[in-house]
Amino acid sequence: MKKTIVFVALAGLTFTLSYCSASKKSAKKAVAMSYETNVKEIIEANCAPCHFPSKGGNKEPLDSYASVSKHIDDILRRIQLNPSDRGFMPNRRAKLSESTIEVLKDWKASGMHE
Ligand code: HEC
Repeated sequence: MKKTIVFVALAGLTFTLSYCSASKKSAKKAVAMSYETNVKEIIEANCAPCHFPSKGGNKEPLDSYASVSKHIDDILRRIQLNPSDRGFMPNRRAKLSESTIEVLKDWKASGMHE
């Protein structure tokens, strides 16, 4: 009798947990990505100061929605190169994580909302 109760409780818990994480995932996909909430901080964290004139950078500015969306194809190409390849970005730093690269790809694919 006790065993049955434990089993039912565990089954219920497992179901609840997997249901919750599944619904979280789909919720994340449904929300449109935007420059302000998803992209800006990634670019700031990885491409400053070089691409931020306000921080002393003298490379092509990537400090606004307009400049990042204008250069998105070149950005995606460069961050997916090997760090030893010519043109790789971020210059002389480690490659961005797969999940970070995915965010930028998804942003482009979902229409580059501001
Ligand atoms: C340490 C400084 C530095 C950092 C950090 C850096 N870059 Fe660069 N970036 C450069 C230099 C130097 C060039 C010019 C050389 C070249 O074109 O390869 C450049 C050029 C570029 C260009 C071409 C611009 C043009 O003139 O058309 C793009 C796009 C670019 N970087 C994207 C990025 C992105 C995206 C990041 C962050 C993930 C980043 N860079 C981080 C130094 C940097």
